[in-house]
Amino acid sequence: MTQELAGRVAVVTGGASGIGRASVHALAQAGAQVVVADVDEARARSVADEVHAAGGTALAVVADVTDDAAVKAMVATAVSTLGGVDLAVNAAGVGGVEAPTHAYAEAAWLRTVDVNLTGVWRCMRHQIPALLARGAQTGRTTAIVNVASVAGLAGFPAHAAYAASKHGVVGLTKTAALEYARRGLRVNAICPGFTDTPMVAQITGADPEREAQLARRLPIGRLGTPAEIAAGVLYLCSDAAAFMIGHALVLDGGIVAG
Ligand SMILES: NC(=O)c1ccc[n+]([C@@H]2O[C@H](COP(=O)([O-])OP(=O)(O)OC[C@H]3O[C@@H](n4cnc5c(N)ncnc54)[C@H](O)[C@@H]3O)[C@@H](O)[C@H]2O)c1
Repeated sequence: MTQELAGRVAVVTGGASGIGRASVHALAQAGAQVVVADVDEARARSVADEVHAAGGTALAVVADVTDDAAVKAMVATAVSTLGGVDLAVNAAGVGGVEAPTHAYAEAAWLRTVDVNLTGVWRCMRHQIPALLARGAQTGRTTAIVNVASVAGLAGFPAHAAYAASKHGVVGLTKTAALEYARRGLRVNAICPGFTDTPMVAQITGADPEREAQLARRLPIGRLGTPAEIAAGVLYLCSDAAAFMIGHALVLDGGIVAG
């Protein structure tokens, strides 16, 4: 276990499952104290328990990223309980529905954009003042990592709201990166390809044949693992990425190269 993030506090939204959960573990193993924020209280608590069992420190907080007051309270809890926020990973997201663009139901569109894009902005607007204050207090740089997608860089047929929301996350990331670059706050995004999480199991219906079909779409011939994506999140959070500003890091088994 390295301790490169010892003394840092990280907030991870969507921390109860998949990529968020793997990011919680990667950050905790690197020595950070982690707030596991999620709308799913039971699973957030169980991930915090996993971290404690592994010798780390984690705190479960219930927060729905579509609820501004809950997001504000999530950041306030991190500050009051753990002393501040050094790192924020915004992974909470939903897949939306599958439909051609002209037939996409408006309610599903609004919901997907509210969670995936407006939710990230809501988190950032409360995280940024806390991160800037922490940086001023410690003299260290701080970082935000937004979880976008390869669907934030290329079209994703039958998933218009998802692709639009993730393209929005990349634009939001680059804009905030420019705004805070001189204030010691680095803002970057990660763009995973298909990764073996409950979100993808929802797309395939956990049918092995559909999973194999999906895997064949990746040049590497398999889905990514949450830990492989979390390794990128950890890198973007770490001082090794000190010169990385407004970057959208692709971890996709080769999809975008094709
Ligand atoms: N799995 C993939 O192939 C893949 C690829 C690219 C990007 N992503 C992105 O990675 C992120 C994590 O996805 P995952 O695959 O780990 O999915 P997941 O379903 O395993 O995890 C998503 C988590 O977000 C939480 N969540 C959903 N809505 C929320 C809300 N309103 N407020 C707070 N928490 C909420 C869920 O409870 C869940 O714990 C998402 O942003 C997703 O779009 C996933």
